[in-house]
Amino acid sequence: AASTDYQAENATISQGVVESNHAGYTGTGFVNYDNLVGSYVEWTVTAPAGPADVTLRYANGTTAQRPMDFTVNGVAGAVGITFPGTGDWTSWQTKTVRLTLAAGTNKIRARATTADGGPNADKLTV
Ligand code: GCU
Ligand code: CA
Ligand code: CA
Repeated sequence: AASTDYQAENATISQGVVESNHAGYTGTGFVNYDNLVGSYVEWTVTAPAGPADVTLRYANGTTAQRPMDFTVNGVAGAVGITFPGTGDWTSWQTKTVRLTLAAGTNKIRARATTADGGPNADKLTV
């Protein structure tokens, strides 16, 4: 099926800021998660019901992976997903998780689970 891009900088952000100081992002920027447990980005995604491959484009310029949990409409979807270092803040990679979506509107949240916060987040593709 066709996929749709949802930019992180247009999503709901809790404890993070939109920035554009590291090249290679798409859209108009990316989200710099605050470096703490619980910072998140939440996208509102419209989809048919059922399992969907959900891809986050991210950068992590450190050597420590930055795990996050994904929820869908407040329900745990994919936990402990790792976002390894990408070599540089301007090097972007993707990570795909499979989530079960509801018909219509879904709130997909990617929440940092360590004190490092999440990786820089460019966009979600569903
Ligand atoms: C640097 C970098 C940010 C990044 C941050 C981090 O400050 O410029 O884009 O989010 O490190 O370690 O999370
Ligand atoms: Ca950060
Ligand atoms: Ca972006």
